[in-house]
Amino acid sequence: MANTILVGAQWGDEGKGKIIDVLTEEADVVVRTQGGNNAGHTVFIGSQKYILHLVPSGILRPNKTCVIGNGVVIDPISLVEELDGLIRLGVAIDGQLFVSETAHLVFPYHRMLDEQREVLKGKNKIGTTKRGIGPAYGDKAARTGIRMVDLANPKRFATLLEQRIEEHNGVLRALGAPPLSFEEVHAAYRAAGDRLKPFIVNTVFLLHDAMRRGANILFEGAQGTFLDIDHGTYPFVTSSNTTAGGACTGSGIPPNRVDRVVGVVKAYTTRVGEGPLLTENAEIADLLHGMGREFGATTGRPRRCGWFDAVATRHAALVNGLDELTVTNLDGLDTIESIKVAVAYRVGDTQYDHVPSDVEVLSQCEPVYREFPGWRAPTNQVRNWQQLPAPARSYLEAIAELTGAKLTIVSVGPSREQTIFL
Ligand code: GDP
Ligand code: IMO
Ligand code: MG
Repeated sequence: MANTILVGAQWGDEGKGKIIDVLTEEADVVVRTQGGNNAGHTVFIGSQKYILHLVPSGILRPNKTCVIGNGVVIDPISLVEELDGLIRLGVAIDGQLFVSETAHLVFPYHRMLDEQREVLKGKNKIGTTKRGIGPAYGDKAARTGIRMVDLANPKRFATLLEQRIEEHNGVLRALGAPPLSFEEVHAAYRAAGDRLKPFIVNTVFLLHDAMRRGANILFEGAQGTFLDIDHGTYPFVTSSNTTAGGACTGSGIPPNRVDRVVGVVKAYTTRVGEGPLLTENAEIADLLHGMGREFGATTGRPRRCGWFDAVATRHAALVNGLDELTVTNLDGLDTIESIKVAVAYRVGDTQYDHVPSDVEVLSQCEPVYREFPGWRAPTNQVRNWQQLPAPARSYLEAIAELTGAKLTIVSVGPSREQTIFL
């Protein structure tokens, strides 16, 4: 298959989990490289639904090596719960999962700070998943983080945790939140650390060893391009590099070992949390929510929905170097008479063909739309390109061309079988 980075090219929840599951068939190793349990990747196998948060979606196929790389921030208690849930469903973990010893840990004070900062921001809140992701990456950048390798060293872990809790308790008290007990956090984290110990290794060498043996590596992106800390709609973003470059720093695999970059998009746009969404449309939201679709896999929040935004996906093609495009949820548009696509943004006399960096400018923009005729026929039973209604093919060809990447996969339903390869 070649080493492949798969990224979300919109605002997250593009259907990465489903496509990772499909592509894993030809991969040997699947690696998560950024984000944490803010991610929620849904995979259906038959009627069984799995939601992965920290564990790579590749774990659902037997004999695939799955790696949680150094760039991920890990809440060890949440990871143990996720593993227990998978084991209960009969998924094999032992010998297949490896966790980086240099990944940073998420602590209860990170979650509490995340929550308190959102309260303080009031109407300007980000709408985070409240999983402590921002404060955990903040500690990493400030060089005050605690890593897996520390958790594995009881004496050092106790010393570091005591210092960190003392420092964060000062901040929590000032914010009116209850302080944390060192003993309680320490006991819970040591127990989780003992459970995770067999999985913790130097994943950089593991990955390079696998490559030397000719393994194909699939990088499972989390979140999406416009939630990237550098390239997203700052400050309405997450705290990691969700774009293709993050896959290299978050794994220790250099850029010249990457063979292709695949972008995943929905046939329309969704966003969960605050921040601008220019193509937002109440009719599409009502339609999809009415079908029981577009509720967050991690928080259950209804996702905001809108038309496909080709300005954004073209921008995503640029910063990720997208070679290929995978379009999911085509079936979500099956009943729509006329489908709009944003092809430019306009504010006053200024026209943009990329997403402006200043979120205030972006918020003032109006999308310039091109309209496409709908197909008004169900697509969820379609299994090959020729069977798709002609207007659906035209629509897909147009959004791939506007994005500037080669269309290679179309998904018409959540299951493995509902996948069309071009
Ligand atoms: P991820 O975070 O990118 O992995 O995406 P999520 O799992 O959070 O959200 C995508 C949702 O779309 C999930 O409920 C998937 O089961 C579902 N899904 C993925 N592809 C398709 C598709 O082609 N059609 C339909 N109907 N659902 C899909
Ligand atoms: P997957 O991998 C969609 C959003 C949150 C919020 C912002 C910051 O399933 O696509 P955070 O908790 O990261 O500090 O929240 O980012 N967000 C996601 N939105 N899909 C995700 O992951 C997301 N992870 C974070 O809603 O707007
Ligand atoms: Mg998701």
